[in-house]
Amino acid sequence: MKVTIIGTGYVWLTHGTCLAELENDVICVDIDINKIEQLKQWIIPIFEPKLSNLVIKNHRAWRLNFSTDVKSAIDVSDIIFIAVGTPPGPDGHADMQYVKQVAQDIWKYINKYTIIVTKSTVPVGTWDMITNIISAGIRYRWMQIDFDVASNPEFLREWTAVDDFKNSDRVVIWCNDENGKAVQMLKRLYSPLKNTEILVTDMYSAELIKYWANSLLAVQVSFINAISRLCEKLWADVNKVAKWLRLDWRIWHKAFLTAWPGFGGSCFPKDVMEFAQTFEDNWIPNGILQATLDINEQQKYAIFIKIKRLLDWNLEWKTVSILWLAFKSNTDDIRYSPSIVVINELLKKNAKIKCYDPKAMNNFKNMYPDLDYCDDMYIAVTDSDCMVVMTDWDEFKQPDWEKIISLMKRKNVVDARNIYDKSVLINMWFNYIGVWI
Ligand code: UGA
Repeated sequence: MKVTIIGTGYVWLTHGTCLAELENDVICVDIDINKIEQLKQWIIPIFEPKLSNLVIKNHRAWRLNFSTDVKSAIDVSDIIFIAVGTPPGPDGHADMQYVKQVAQDIWKYINKYTIIVTKSTVPVGTWDMITNIISAGIRYRWMQIDFDVASNPEFLREWTAVDDFKNSDRVVIWCNDENGKAVQMLKRLYSPLKNTEILVTDMYSAELIKYWANSLLAVQVSFINAISRLCEKLWADVNKVAKWLRLDWRIWHKAFLTAWPGFGGSCFPKDVMEFAQTFEDNWIPNGILQATLDINEQQKYAIFIKIKRLLDWNLEWKTVSILWLAFKSNTDDIRYSPSIVVINELLKKNAKIKCYDPKAMNNFKNMYPDLDYCDDMYIAVTDSDCMVVMTDWDEFKQPDWEKIISLMKRKNVVDARNIYDKSVLINMWFNYIGVWI
């Protein structure tokens, strides 16, 4: 099939590439000329494990192309995925301007029956909006062209996006005619994915499912984070609590029960905000979602308090090493990263910050050009008063502690991901605070 993906953000570039791998002809379109030129030269503008080889393989096979020419892409496509950003607006609602812009492009250039699929995470009711914009535009052109608008929310995670696509447990589809052409074609598109359940549902449910899925996971994360803070007060161990919790078969997938420095990324924070607003707009108390967001902010701030505690409540000119900057490991994405909150608080107190991340430093430099960026973790801890672990990269889980001792000014460690063995560090006379104490 001929497929266009409009928007080449993190998971959507993966989505397009994986569809090409399923032997479809895919064009990934973006208005960012630099990004498209880079992609044509196999320079992947993001860090996503396993993506690069697939891009090269499918581009070489002429199945995957990159373009800024929306018109030509719309011209040749059977299916157009709208995959542009829906960042949070000032009122907490998703900002839909980019989705509207794509809908405008589609009515201008559509010339034959086409299926338009929303892949972006969009609020309930977006189907009507897109349909109305395109219908009105086609009428304005004095033409009669058939089209279908379908919904197909994205469930890929950054870092594991390629494997998530190949092993998707479910694909959710909605279109106004359950047995119509659009649903049949989308089912065909995904049919090579063997262990995937294709769920055809009703319109509003399809749009709601994504928000519910992300919000439920975020609720779990915030709940375990709140428990971690209670554990700290009561001298209990949140990891042991979570371990026992996971033994209960009713606990969904046993995942997202790890207390860490709060959730970040481009999805959970914005989706929970939008979902909370949707509740409010419909006069239903959104307490659980608001609490999820509040706990998340507190959890990030709590890391800063731990640093202060280890540094005798005085951060003036103290050197703090922030190790790993992205919102989670194995990505270069820094959107809503907990490190941002910690660094902002440290800067307010005039602390000196040294930092290191194997992938995310360039993105961070655009935001904070003046921090001391180091080439590796050992340089980052040199002359430091406190080392702060913000993500859980496997490759740094067993550092050379003797070397670290010889480099640091004071032996303080705040481990916001609990990646180090507390007893080992305490035996080496470190002052150590993890998530539970
Ligand atoms: C999330 C969802 O997991 C995907 O299904 C969804 O498609 C995607 O959002 C999206 O809407 O596009 P992602 O943001 O890539 O994926 O990252 P996750 O691995 O889900 O982690 C989200 C945050 O929760 C991270 O900050 C992570 O550190 C945190 N987290 C996760 C915890 O604090 N504790 C956990 O136990 C698990």
